[in-house]
Amino acid sequence: MYNKQSLTILQKALDKLSEGFSHLPSFEQEIPDDVEKILLEVAERMQNNFPYHHPLYAGQMLKPPHEVARLAYMLSMWINPNNHALDGGRESSAMEKETVAEIALMFGWQECLAHLTSSGTFANLEALWVAGNIHPKKRIVASELAHYTHERISHVLGLKFQKIACDKSGKMDLKKLEAQLKKGTIGTVVVTMGTTGIGSVDPLPEILELQKKYQFRIHLDAAYGGYFRLADNLPEDTLKKYALMQEADSIVVDPHKHGLQPYGCGCILFKNPEVGKFYKHDSPYTYFSSAELHLGEISLECSRAGAAAVGLWATQKLFPLVKGGAFSKKINSSHNAAMMLYKKIISDKRFIILQEPEIDIVIWALKEKTISAVNRKSKAIFEKAAEKNLHLALLNYPVRLLPTHWRSITKDEEYVTCLRSCLLKPEHENWIEDIWKIVTESLS
Ligand SMILES: Cc1ncc(COP(=O)(O)O)c(C=O)c1O
Repeated sequence: MYNKQSLTILQKALDKLSEGFSHLPSFEQEIPDDVEKILLEVAERMQNNFPYHHPLYAGQMLKPPHEVARLAYMLSMWINPNNHALDGGRESSAMEKETVAEIALMFGWQECLAHLTSSGTFANLEALWVAGNIHPKKRIVASELAHYTHERISHVLGLKFQKIACDKSGKMDLKKLEAQLKKGTIGTVVVTMGTTGIGSVDPLPEILELQKKYQFRIHLDAAYGGYFRLADNLPEDTLKKYALMQEADSIVVDPHKHGLQPYGCGCILFKNPEVGKFYKHDSPYTYFSSAELHLGEISLECSRAGAAAVGLWATQKLFPLVKGGAFSKKINSSHNAAMMLYKKIISDKRFIILQEPEIDIVIWALKEKTISAVNRKSKAIFEKAAEKNLHLALLNYPVRLLPTHWRSITKDEEYVTCLRSCLLKPEHENWIEDIWKIVTESLS
């Protein structure tokens, strides 16, 4: 589960870190006797988890961080920097500025306003807050398969929100969107680059065309799918959408999803740095140590983990965000794994697929006569597979959005429960045979 060499590296790095403070009078904190006992108790309690690190965990969007992120994060815990103001995290703030500039470049932006956040939810909140400042009286719209957070955030911000129906491929229906745009009351369209449920990517090229006609902001929720910007093996249509990300007004991406980071690492980027004016505030307590930009001056959150920036900086140093690099190969592997599972499903007549995966989420079920029977079977397979150490996820999907190849199944319920696999670990590529074997053994 862990590599013992990591701890040797951490110890060397801690010795190096300590050298920087060796001019201070000696000061050591004692470790109380009970620490070991308590830590072993923690380890025992933490055994009560699904094995997120293992390729047989192929369910929700969960995976442990890369070793380099884990070590850099841990190392910085001996400082515990706070990236609110430079007063609290001088070097980690500089590292945050460098990392977000690299993320911006990945999306094609040389100049922008960007910072890390505690989560994708908070990053989206900042995007919609800025959108609301620019179009205070207008509506925010997002597809019905967009993350539920957009509706909740809009309510928190006092902004009007509306869902746009999806078509049968799970993407925002362009005709339905245009019908709403004609009313002239939409200020911002949230375009999801990889929906949480099925990984569908909204039709960005066509939405950009509509923007020319109706003028509105485009916010990309790429919390999950943003790093697929670096992939080169996606379906052609999907690649075209990713190639246009730089045309949006704001982008959210979560390094704590595909970016190999511990939780507590989202990122918001705005194309126009002038939106910084909305963040302007005075603080009687901070911003004294330097005239340089303090990240708290362009962030709604105050205290933020500097360790998150340190972990991400180290990770991007090891895995630069470039096409063709080692990191982009990991992203390609996730799509490859999804395609391998997809091919297994479509070549076995007992199963039915939702659709070809655009990124790395696969949705499927056992073919039955009725939706209610499909639902029962999905739950049974989910449980049986878990008993055999394969952990899948379930998805409740609107029956009216099912594609035509589902027409022979009697629609006796409004929602179909399908099996769902988010294959975000690159190792999944080598485990599809094992995963499939357990799936098929879980049928009876
Ligand atoms: C597309 C999308 N947006 C937003 C979020 C919320 O992000 P977080 O869980 O980091 O708050 C998620 C989480 O799964 C997501 O998939």
